[in-house]
Formats: sequence, structure tokens, C-alpha cells
Amino acid sequence: MDIAAKQAELDAVTWYHEFDFGNGLRTHTHCHHIEQHRRVWAFVKAQLDRVDFRGKSVLDIGSWDGYWSFHAEKRGARAVLASDDLGQNWSAGRGIHLAKELLGSSVEIDQNLSVYDLPSRGQKFDVILFLGVYYHLHDPFYALAQIRHCCHKDTVVVIDGPIGQYLGAGAHYDFPNHGCEWLPSESAMRQLLEATYFTEPAVAHDTSPTDQPGRVGWRWRLQMARAALSGSRAAMSAKLTEALLPSRRTVFVCRPHEGEVTLHHYRPPFGLHAYDPRFRDATARRAA
Ligand SMILES: C[S@@+](CC[C@H](N)C(=O)[O-])C[C@H]1O[C@@H](n2cnc3c(N)ncnc32)[C@H](O)[C@@H]1O
Repeated sequence: MDIAAKQAELDAVTWYHEFDFGNGLRTHTHCHHIEQHRRVWAFVKAQLDRVDFRGKSVLDIGSWDGYWSFHAEKRGARAVLASDDLGQNWSAGRGIHLAKELLGSSVEIDQNLSVYDLPSRGQKFDVILFLGVYYHLHDPFYALAQIRHCCHKDTVVVIDGPIGQYLGAGAHYDFPNHGCEWLPSESAMRQLLEATYFTEPAVAHDTSPTDQPGRVGWRWRLQMARAALSGSRAAMSAKLTEALLPSRRTVFVCRPHEGEVTLHHYRPPFGLHAYDPRFRDATARRAA
């Protein structure tokens, strides 16, 4: 292999994750706030260390350059589907293919699969990774319902993202903020999981020290001033959210649930009634 040429090929890609492929070949992330990202990746890795991937079929939703898909494969997964919706991030999607080649990986790649369309594949998976995605969604309830449809009874679903600290039981929508369009409280996330027929989750919080909350630091003040001077409401809104709605990275691990969910007094939407005997049987009776 011509190492210099391969590194030049790597450098032409806008990477999200940091890969070390050996032989001096590595990727340079295009992320801002890299220390914050490294902290999140270390936290997620520690949580994934508790998941048994051996011999499992794995669905990685929003895989970007495939970092966690390759991780699952390395940890012994039998088959991995790295899925993404290329229209939802700032890369051209070449990174995952290069990484697959350099790692000699067998991960299957589908970059045209939105979380909203997952059941179109007609597959169920043993482990589903939904890492770093939910807070970018406009409709997290619908997304979780689609994930539920990809579960068999023993599936393990691992969900990672930020959880708002001072939101009570609520959630915050901020569609102009492309760093975090939707921020739930832990209570809202639990409610959503229950309403989409998942079990009570095991929850882990990232407890590593962060720059939040307390007084806003000089970096934030500078960035806020820059956003104000640029006149961008979106940039100002993002900075404000950061200061007023501090969040903690959190991982939820849950399994599919089948049975009564008292949150639903009436038949739930999006096909979820299939998991609740009260509504499943009534729907079948009406159809007969
Ligand atoms: C912050 S990155 C997370 C990447 C990786 N999962 C991780 O945890 O490091 C968000 C990913 O979610 C994907 N994404 C956003 N909206 C999506 C959607 N509706 N369906 C599928 N993927 C989506 C983006 O394309 C991107 O790959």
C-alpha cells in the first residue's frame, strides 16, 4: 500500500471520529469541541463494554463513519448493519467505506436508511445501537416506534444522548439549533421509552467533570459575543441553550416490552398496538 497516497485519501474526507488504522494512517476529525467529543466517546465505549456482542446481529443507527459499527464487529458481532441517512450530516459519506477497506471489515453499509424507515428492511436485530442521534430528530416518538418494530423479544437497545438538567419532566424543542434540535429530561425520555413499549431502562450518566453548569466561562461569553455580532439568531439560540439548558450525556439500555402500558388509554399510534393485548385483540376483532 502506498501509505502517503492512502493518507492523502483519508485527509480528503470530512471525518467525525478519530481512527487509527495502524502504519501511521489516521483520521483527523473536523469536529469543533474535540475534547468534549472525546469525553463522550470514552463514556459510550465504557457503557458498550457491558454489552455482549459475540455472535449477535447488530443494527447501528446513524453510524456516520461507522466507528461504533466497527467496534461491535471487533467485539465479536456476527453481522453488523451500519445505517445512516446521508442527508442528515455534513459529510459526503465516503469515510465509512474507506474505514471498512482499511479495517478489512464485513460491516454492511446502508446510507440511505432513515431511522423513520427502518422497518422497510424487514429485519429484527439482537442489538440495536442508537447513539448520538435522538437529539437531532424532529419526531423522536415515531423514531422509537420504528426501532421497536426492529426488535425481537430478546433485543437489547442502547441509546445515548444528552439529557437536560433543569427541564423538570419536560423536553425542549429547538429546531434552528442544529447541535441539539430536541433535548429531553430523563423523565421525558423514560416516558417515551415506556410509551413505545420498551422496558424500564438501565441508566448511566457521564459523571466526568464538564464546563457546565455554574458561571458561564470566558469561552462561552466570547462565542456568544461572536454569535451576536454575526447577527445569527440560530447561533445565538444555540449558545443560549448551552448556557440555560445544561445537559449530561446519558446512556439508556432497555429491552422490548410486550403487555399493557397504562400510559395508553386509547390505541397507541404507529403500529404500537401490536405489543399491547388490549388494543391488539380489539383491532383484530374489529377487522374480523
Ligand atoms: C452526532 S452523529 C452520531 C454518530 C455516531 N452514531 C456516534 O454516536 O458517534 C449523528 C448521526 O445521526 C444521523 N442521523 C440524523 N438524523 C437521522 C435520521 N433521521 N435517520 C438516520 N440517521 C440520522 C446523522 O447522519 C449522523 O450520522
